[in-house]
Amino acid sequence: MSEPTRTSEPAAARPRAGAPLEPDHGAPGTAGGPGGSGSPTGDLAARAAALDAADELAGLRDRFTLPDGVVYLDGNSLGALPATVAAATSDVVTRQWGELLIRSWDESDWWTAPERIGDKLAPLVGAAPGQVVVGDSTSVNLFKALVGAARLAEAAGPGRTTMLVDAATFPTDGYIAASAARMTGLTVLPTDPADVPAALGPDTAVVLLNHVDYRTGRLHDLPGLTRAVHAAGAIAVWDLCHSAGALPVGLDAHAVDLAVGCTYKYLNGGPGAPAYLYIAERHQAAFDSPLPGWNSHADPFGMTPHYAPAEGALRGRVGTPDILSMLALESALDAWDGVTVEAVRAKSLALTDFFLACVAQYVPQGTVEPVTPAEHERRGSQVSLRTENAREVMRELIARGVVGDYRAPDVLRFGFTPLYVGFADAERAARTLGHIFG
Ligand SMILES: Cc1ncc(COP(=O)(O)O)c(C=O)c1O
Repeated sequence: MSEPTRTSEPAAARPRAGAPLEPDHGAPGTAGGPGGSGSPTGDLAARAAALDAADELAGLRDRFTLPDGVVYLDGNSLGALPATVAAATSDVVTRQWGELLIRSWDESDWWTAPERIGDKLAPLVGAAPGQVVVGDSTSVNLFKALVGAARLAEAAGPGRTTMLVDAATFPTDGYIAASAARMTGLTVLPTDPADVPAALGPDTAVVLLNHVDYRTGRLHDLPGLTRAVHAAGAIAVWDLCHSAGALPVGLDAHAVDLAVGCTYKYLNGGPGAPAYLYIAERHQAAFDSPLPGWNSHADPFGMTPHYAPAEGALRGRVGTPDILSMLALESALDAWDGVTVEAVRAKSLALTDFFLACVAQYVPQGTVEPVTPAEHERRGSQVSLRTENAREVMRELIARGVVGDYRAPDVLRFGFTPLYVGFADAERAARTLGHIFG
């Protein structure tokens, strides 16, 4: 599931509530704000219109089904529905399953879906074919990656006893890391990513980092940190949940060892869509999965009692793939046809720059504090704003048609998915936020 939003906490204080939905555009003199030509609202709305008109990716929004009147800035939690998915999924259910029944494992290529879809996704994370396998959840893939990494480190030589883990990590990563470390005899050292180079040493076995921090939207230096980890002789494992599909990752170019990520955020695979595991080609022969299920056997239908791992990334498979979700994801990835991640990144930075400028203009000073770094090289594809009563504020934003989310205790998150979010959306979101504080 996407990160769920809690709704059961007691209210602390009240932002201005009950206003109608914001108009789509901040046309001067409308209910959208101070109005009048030369007003901040009019200027920013006009700038948004000009930016949208010049945006070469603007037409991609038609590849998605989005409700009218809603500004959707939560694609960093659950991506929108690609327009092809409903028909593709219906075909899988009614024809492939309903008519072909078990023949579909061969005739509809169900059996090879995990590696086929892995190869389809691979260019989006900068991986050559044969290194990405799709299936299971991010949490499960993380377990495979961390135990696999610890075993690779152990095979390389004795004396490596620690696992450095991003101290601000998404909780599941910390929980799984603690268990993986316990199983492999390592000690977890929670470490701020900026402190990783100094913390590395001859005892470091594995380093687990997030490419983009889920709460702050801070982008970490994957190339530099991976180099530092390798210089210390350790194995680098990256969590790409908040970067894949939003910015270039360059797994092969930066010689990442192992990586995991989900597909339900910027890759729009749908709620609970299968995650993926990247195993760099150079590690595949030695990768020793802690979950050696029959789907990763060299001869799965030989039904032998002895386990022999398959070649390549598919040794990261475990059991029977979740075909309905997996084939929905395969169709969702068609939304990327002819689109480069570089173009998406350029638009993402322009969108988040523009949103921050609109927030600075519309939202009373001192009410929100951006926690996402201003520098492009340290910013992911979301803007997080710290504010009092964040949960209440987000609830009010959603009531007014601007959907972002909230992370405890005080962070409003706005995710910008360039495939379907435009500059007018950014302007309306900031203007609505300004009204709530106004
Ligand atoms: C950074 C990060 N890692 C891991 C996860 C957990 O993924 P899953 O629920 O697929 O195991 C999430 C979920 O949102 C996440 O944001």
